[in-house]
Amino acid sequence: MSDTNDKFEWSDSYLLGHGPMDETHKEFVLLVNAMKNASDADFAARLDDFEKHAVKHFSQEDDWMTSTNFPSADCHIDEHGKVLASVHGIQAMDEEKKLKIGRGLVTALEEWFPGHADYLDSALAKWMVKQSFGGERVAPVVFKRNPKMSEAGVGVQSKNS
Ligand SMILES: [Fe+2]
Ligand SMILES: [Fe+2]
Repeated sequence: MSDTNDKFEWSDSYLLGHGPMDETHKEFVLLVNAMKNASDADFAARLDDFEKHAVKHFSQEDDWMTSTNFPSADCHIDEHGKVLASVHGIQAMDEEKKLKIGRGLVTALEEWFPGHADYLDSALAKWMVKQSFGGERVAPVVFKRNPKMSEAGVGVQSKNS
């Protein structure tokens, strides 16, 4: 495999400092990459795998937001709903359309995830870490392997709000 965009790969720049969320996001990247590299014959099965993941991923985050009274939950929950609606819409298509539109979904997910994680999930991760420290203002410390030097310049980055 070349290092061009034939793969959607995990990057530690996606780490948010909340363990369960980071694990879920690693699985997200794996399953999007599995769709990206699926043969036409396997694509529908990989789309189904991704849908199962997305239902769990989004409902877990939605539950975290509602159960902890996260202050800006609405647009985050809304964005999850829109992605899931697209996935379900494509699952319902005939095989030919599913393949064509589904391949476009993979590209859209690759473009969507970094921004969603950076803006919406990161705020939730900070909030969840704060909750687990009894409401103290504690920001998660994220340890990143092989950070892009142009971005961070250091091996350990403290994520302060
Ligand atoms: Fe997420
Ligand atoms: Fe999210």
